[in-house]
Amino acid sequence: MIDADLVSFFTQKFKSHPEFESSAPGRVNIIGEHTDYNEGFVLPCALHYKTEVVGSKREDTIVNAYSLQYPDQSESFDLTKPIEHSEWAWGDYLRGVLIELLNLGSDLRGMDLVITSDVPQGSGLSSSAALEVAIIGLFNFAYGLQLSNKQIARLGQLAENNFIDCQCGIMDQLISADAQAHSALLIDCKDLSTQAVHIPEHLALLVINSNYPRKLADSEYNQRRDACERVASTLGLKTLREASMADLRRIAGVVSEEDFRRAKHVITENLRVLDAADALESNDVKRFFTLMYEAHLSLKNDFEITVDATDGIVDIVMTALNGNGACRQTGGGFGGAVVCLCDERDVNSVIEAVQNQYHKQFGLSADILICEPARGLSAQARINSVGS
Ligand code: GLA
Repeated sequence: MIDADLVSFFTQKFKSHPEFESSAPGRVNIIGEHTDYNEGFVLPCALHYKTEVVGSKREDTIVNAYSLQYPDQSESFDLTKPIEHSEWAWGDYLRGVLIELLNLGSDLRGMDLVITSDVPQGSGLSSSAALEVAIIGLFNFAYGLQLSNKQIARLGQLAENNFIDCQCGIMDQLISADAQAHSALLIDCKDLSTQAVHIPEHLALLVINSNYPRKLADSEYNQRRDACERVASTLGLKTLREASMADLRRIAGVVSEEDFRRAKHVITENLRVLDAADALESNDVKRFFTLMYEAHLSLKNDFEITVDATDGIVDIVMTALNGNGACRQTGGGFGGAVVCLCDERDVNSVIEAVQNQYHKQFGLSADILICEPARGLSAQARINSVGS
């Protein structure tokens, strides 16, 4: 159901009803961190927080856009002229994906559109991927481009890599485009094949946003990627996907101690993801919890993308759950959010523990979100657009 405010804002700005709508979710990654750009495995699920866009095609090549979150900022540019950077952060995502759509050779004309989103920003829940996928989804549907969800995801990732200068992998865009309701998605980032993995009904999915100010997150992210690429190339491989721990041990004295640990994380994380998907499918939640916590320790000690605040939340939650659930840093790291899976009956004790201890220890307040695994991109023509 598209946000009614979005439609009335469009009607007020463009003096007509929007013809098309699209919606794409944010995501939380359950396990498999910093493996996507190493052509490895990830197990994310989409959230019920989403970005929605409504729009109408134009006869000319102008794109006019507004965002309900930034009503004083507007975008207007011509698809036949060189597309420069925007004055606004959100405008760059719009421009970045349109450049990629044009690079495909698509015969695009313009669009009037309005965007809204309830995906928390800056918390590692992929608000930018949701925005990219929702916009590409809208153009794809409106202009009959026949792009698959995988192609849509790839275009979103290219916009990040080429225009935003974030060298991210494909996980966030692919889960936003391709997620299935009530499930996580096991993605093989080498061939982009996917498999829905059912999350047992009695497990609750919590996302705890640390609200730790993310600093240098992009440059640190790109450095981690460089380290992985250095080790892969020392091994004569394209990516760490093909590497084993035995391979890595053979070059222990050749690569730096730090690079060794970075690669160790990736190699062991790939195995954990496959094990975790298997454990969930067979309802072996104890094994799944162990793997989730091991993944956190690997991010903390070997990949070093956690901060005291997110490590602190993990400690608080793990103590409160006493083995009946697990928790780990999720997303790119350097702040952001922690994901927790636990029995539904234990949700209140997790919330209480975080509320009682996190602020006292770190001087920050956490947002605790109880989430539902949601479906991915949807885009369609708006029916009954008169008055709706
Ligand atoms: C960010 C990136 C993803 C992925 C994660 C870490 O969310 O956008 O591509 O690399 O970090 O797993």
